Amino acid sequence: MSNMRADEALRQVKTDAKGGTCSMVIFGGSGDLTRRKILPALFNSAKEGILPEHFTVIGCGKPLMSVEEYRKIVSEALLNFAKAEKADQNVLRHFIENVFYVGGGFEEDALYTQLDELIQSNCKARTCSDNRIYYLSTPPSVFPIITHQLAQHGMSRVEGTNYWRRIIIEKPFGRDLQSARELNAEIAKAFEEWQVYRIDHYLGKETVQNVMAFRFANGIFEPLWNRNYIDHIQITAAESLGVEDRGGYYEEAGALRDMIQNHVLQVMTLVAMEPPSTFDANAVRDERVKVMRAIRPIKEDEADKYFVRGQYAAGVVHNEMVSGYRQEAKVNPESATETFVAAKLFVDNWRWAGVPFYLRTGKRMPRRDSEIAIFFKRTPHMMFTHAATDEVAPNVLVLQIQPDESITMSFEAKVPGPDMNLKSVNMHFAYQEAFNAEIAEAYQRLILDCMRGDATLFMRKDMVEVAWWLVMPILQRWYKNKPKNFPNYPAGTWGPLESELLLTNDGRKWRT
Ligand code: BG6
Repeated sequence: MSNMRADEALRQVKTDAKGGTCSMVIFGGSGDLTRRKILPALFNSAKEGILPEHFTVIGCGKPLMSVEEYRKIVSEALLNFAKAEKADQNVLRHFIENVFYVGGGFEEDALYTQLDELIQSNCKARTCSDNRIYYLSTPPSVFPIITHQLAQHGMSRVEGTNYWRRIIIEKPFGRDLQSARELNAEIAKAFEEWQVYRIDHYLGKETVQNVMAFRFANGIFEPLWNRNYIDHIQITAAESLGVEDRGGYYEEAGALRDMIQNHVLQVMTLVAMEPPSTFDANAVRDERVKVMRAIRPIKEDEADKYFVRGQYAAGVVHNEMVSGYRQEAKVNPESATETFVAAKLFVDNWRWAGVPFYLRTGKRMPRRDSEIAIFFKRTPHMMFTHAATDEVAPNVLVLQIQPDESITMSFEAKVPGPDMNLKSVNMHFAYQEAFNAEIAEAYQRLILDCMRGDATLFMRKDMVEVAWWLVMPILQRWYKNKPKNFPNYPAGTWGPLESELLLTNDGRKWRT
């Protein structure tokens, strides 16, 4: 895989004999995620010429509609979300011609019979092998029904050597440890683990992948990457948006389930893991799960010491007045759901002993900003006598995930002039400038990886379960103790006061 650029990805897809063909069945074929993310990702790959030669999309869903009606939905999605009007019209036409639809209830046998027949007849017409990706872009409640039916109809099995079957599963992957285990067990009845690609779109972001390149392709940073030189680490995933039209889903989820259990913990594993010996899916995932297992579990009665929750009230974001969470559509006016979480975690191993990892995520923050900030230890002694050691800023390395994908290292420099005055300055690397290339959307990257059979950036069964195991005591504590002070931060701020205290109590503060 994986830090490969589009042209290299193309070479891989084309040189991989099995990768020359792919039928992608999207369950939830006209849903929001399909229209906003999955179809545009596929189309962008088509524009770049990196889809397999024989590629078909088969939308699948409850509504009964004709192929023409579905193609219209797809065209509109591509116009709205992939700016298809600017694309080569031949590419667009070719893409749409290879879109099909099968409608019906997910529990009905007829749906799967029709689907199988359609795929097989497409493959016959194109004289290509019958490689398939089943993409589950449906509510999680129907995942087991679909996988069961695929197995019943002999559509999940891997037989022979000339084709493959893979399945992509969207989050949320369960809503607690037990449901995640049950779901894993259901999926395992139909698919082998190596056929299963659990998506966490954060891992598909270029800058998140670049954490591995930065750490393991450069000789100078890794020796510093430990408790001897690092004081603490901050990981922020802030959004200025509220819950938009997802109030119904969000009420059941909350920020801990929606962001921390998956995206933020996954980013943390990339920052904290040991160097894998090779760059293959299992070697990398073994290291990630190993470090996740080393995260010190926080017990229910310690939750308040290490975790902070918040919910936004009305406020001003980007100069606009916005309403509070409890006033959003499909949200209980007395909701106890958290829209903000801050946490302090430790990784109990030799590398990280004593180094706090501060994590925070929230909706309706002042701006969209996801970053990893590595705070290095201060100099042990300050020889410039006019400044005390603690007045000189520590070196901070910031890996900005979004929106401005970049890496910045701050260090002290002498201000020009007769006196020895110091000031923090930056060394800055910006993705866009350095590579002069548009950064691909995470979904595009991940779907291509799945077509190539590269699971490095996907979640393995054990990872999902460890992540749930870590957050369970907090979920339980919060469930039993409803927040008394919600809403506790105005929209357009960096969260409740307790989040600041989490760091100031340790003599540190959040990067602004
Ligand atoms: C999703 C969450 O997984 O990630 C959303 O369900 C969140 O609530 C989104 O807004 C953030 O992803 P991105 O790529 O927009 O930062």
